[in-house]
Amino acid sequence: MPQTTKGSTILLENYRFLKDYVYKESGIVLDDDKHYLVESRLMPVALQEHLASLDALCTALRGKANPRLHRKVVEAMTTHETLFFRDVALFDALRSEILPLLIERRKSTRKLAFWSAAASSGQEAYSLAMLLLEAELGGWNTQILGTDLSEQILARAREGRYKQIEINRGLPASYLLKYFERQGLDWQIKDRVRRMVTFEPFDLRKSMRAKGPFDIIFCRNVLIYFDVETKKKILRELRRALFPGGYLVLGGAETTLNLDEHFKQVPAGRATFYQAP
Ligand SMILES: C[S@@+](CC[C@H](N)C(=O)[O-])C[C@H]1O[C@@H](n2cnc3c(N)ncnc32)[C@H](O)[C@@H]1O
Repeated sequence: MPQTTKGSTILLENYRFLKDYVYKESGIVLDDDKHYLVESRLMPVALQEHLASLDALCTALRGKANPRLHRKVVEAMTTHETLFFRDVALFDALRSEILPLLIERRKSTRKLAFWSAAASSGQEAYSLAMLLLEAELGGWNTQILGTDLSEQILARAREGRYKQIEINRGLPASYLLKYFERQGLDWQIKDRVRRMVTFEPFDLRKSMRAKGPFDIIFCRNVLIYFDVETKKKILRELRRALFPGGYLVLGGAETTLNLDEHFKQVPAGRATFYQAP
């Protein structure tokens, strides 16, 4: 009799197929005990496709090429959790220590380049844009690139329209008044902020030779999903996409330690930055 994973409705061979599939398409590693996650994320996709089970979904994925279905599965398996000014200590340190340093460093060219490398729905890139507006860098050329694997989430980021519940998570009230306008029940980020960011698709596992150089790269809360080899490769590429002395910012549960020894850990306020040689 074909085996299912313990407590799960999906055949073991199909769970393995989905696990390999998600890894191949995104680099995301699903542990052997994540069948509940796979079921909760993919059962809605199966039902939308009029498929009665995850096993039927796997049969469809193995069958004739269906790029739309393939995309839907990867979209459903990626976590887009994000918020404005995620990690207040980090943005405080950026404002009070790192940005003044960079301004001094770039005063002759008056040009600064930033990359939000797993941008999700855009809150990280727009938080940075608002921080730069507050710094009143009149006459400076500031470029912010936002990239993500998911086209669907990038469409949301470009739109810059957020629900009240997303606004409540991290956005200071004074910034809401200054940089957003009401649109029905939602809030639309104003054009002057939106225009500061360019969003485009990019898979972090690809070569970054054509990207940068950047003064700061945010690559937060995405390395946690990858295996050690993928993390090492991404960190190596990110290092090369930074200016010498440029800064990498990682999520609270992420580090370069034991993965890339070239980065120097730089404490700033209550945050840690990783500086390229
Ligand atoms: C949890 S969100 C992090 C958002 C933001 N950086 C933050 O910290 O709030 C992770 C994002 O990484 C993206 N992602 C996953 N795999 C990726 C890959 N291989 N290349 C680029 N982005 C990827 C997902 O689509 C998702 O939007």
